[in-house]
Amino acid sequence: MKNILCIGAGYVGGPTMAVIADQCPDHTITVVDINADRINAWNSDQLPIYEPGLLEVVTRARGRNLFFSTDIDGAIKAADIIFVSVNTPTKTFGHGAGMASDLQYWERTARQILANSDRPKIIVEKSTLPVRTAAAMERILNSGDNGLRFQVLSNPEFLAEGSAIRDLMDPDRVLIGGQETEAGRAAVNELVEIYASWVPRERILCTNVWSSELSKLAANAFLAQRISSINAISALCEQTEANVDEVARAIGLDSRIGPKFLRASVGFGGSCFKKDILNLVYLCRSYGLHEVADYWQQVVTFNDHQTQRFAANITAQMFNTVAGKKIALFGFAFKADTGDTRESPAIYVAKSLIAEKADVWINDPKALKNARSALGDAPVQLEPDPYVAADGAHALAILTEWQSYQKLDYQRIYDSMQKPAFVFDGRNLLDHQALFDIGFNVFPIGRPPLTHLT
Ligand SMILES: NC(=O)c1ccc[n+]([C@@H]2O[C@H](COP(=O)([O-])OP(=O)(O)OC[C@H]3O[C@@H](n4cnc5c(N)ncnc54)[C@H](O)[C@@H]3O)[C@@H](O)[C@H]2O)c1
Repeated sequence: MKNILCIGAGYVGGPTMAVIADQCPDHTITVVDINADRINAWNSDQLPIYEPGLLEVVTRARGRNLFFSTDIDGAIKAADIIFVSVNTPTKTFGHGAGMASDLQYWERTARQILANSDRPKIIVEKSTLPVRTAAAMERILNSGDNGLRFQVLSNPEFLAEGSAIRDLMDPDRVLIGGQETEAGRAAVNELVEIYASWVPRERILCTNVWSSELSKLAANAFLAQRISSINAISALCEQTEANVDEVARAIGLDSRIGPKFLRASVGFGGSCFKKDILNLVYLCRSYGLHEVADYWQQVVTFNDHQTQRFAANITAQMFNTVAGKKIALFGFAFKADTGDTRESPAIYVAKSLIAEKADVWINDPKALKNARSALGDAPVQLEPDPYVAADGAHALAILTEWQSYQKLDYQRIYDSMQKPAFVFDGRNLLDHQALFDIGFNVFPIGRPPLTHLT
């Protein structure tokens, strides 16, 4: 029986530990955070984040072998293994601002672990960190007067928000990086045994620490690159009457390319892709690899362009003015099945429409609270009922691929809207021909528009 602690009860710490607790009933798992509101929410049925299946997993384990607490010092003292999944946002100040990872939360945690430990522990990097961070953390942790020696492992998390529980229960792989020493290998083996409770051993990959740290950045860079690649093709499709979905299908059937992650859209969002690529770019520059840095930077630059292009097209198609026009945004989360709005393309689209003096109404099944914090006191209406959001609007913009938007009664919506009525489908989610037949002017991504305007 091990005492496992996770510092950081966010989108990663909460679901990951809930699944470990669920799958390893013999271990005690405690999750701590400096944010007392978050911990209170984890202890209630109104969890602080939305993930399909999460509440069921938490309820099964909570109070049995899963505990949420704000007593960080006490929990560190009791722990054998400590996962750290605090946030590692992009630095907003000083050297590397806008690019490098802000490691202050991580370093503070390392010092707090050191201050509260009277025996050696295994420290697991769950947060996404620049390659070679574990070495720096190990130096801090091993700098104490008490002679304690800590092993720092890298165990990056590959879950995707919206499918976190499925990804954690049945991961493609679990990656564990450790030192190639006797103590390092022993620490790796302890972590392997925990995951092996439910993950087939052939899917548990052990590497050196640097490979593990870098693999997480590289995986996110490759995933984001695929989105920017198909989005770049979508821009060309719009000029040539090619259909990006047909192109995606045709290229995706090539087994070397594969069909996944080839959906053209308004652009990627989320707290990770942009941050991790910028971090990769920064690392490359700091090693003098400027061509490599430029290559990856373009993935982010193009993504910004795709979102800007979508927003600009709304105004352009609506006779070059949206001032005073009601526009309903369907979806604000950065993807479906999450309430997370961090770096959501919807933030940029909303702000640019507000700058054009549009009357912006936002609907989202799970993200209205986060939409408000993302937009501060910007003049928008947050409306839980999509029919009310669309009532009297000139245009709908689909920004998140919630399946519930496919099931709405678009004839009813059309009847309630101003004419000509527009749909800008930033996710190619809806049945465009059906919308056109109802009377909408439809502007998809990477497909010819369907319009009644002459
Ligand atoms: N969100 C994802 O989908 C995802 C996926 C894989 C990896 N990651 C990585 O995991 C890490 C965490 O991401 P997240 O989305 O869970 O972030 P988050 O912001 O949702 O959660 C981080 C939590 O850490 C807490 N925290 C910060 N400093 C602390 C301290 N000193 N002591 C205790 N708690 C502290 C914060 O209050 C917050 O609740 C990041 O490095 C991220 O890049 C995220």
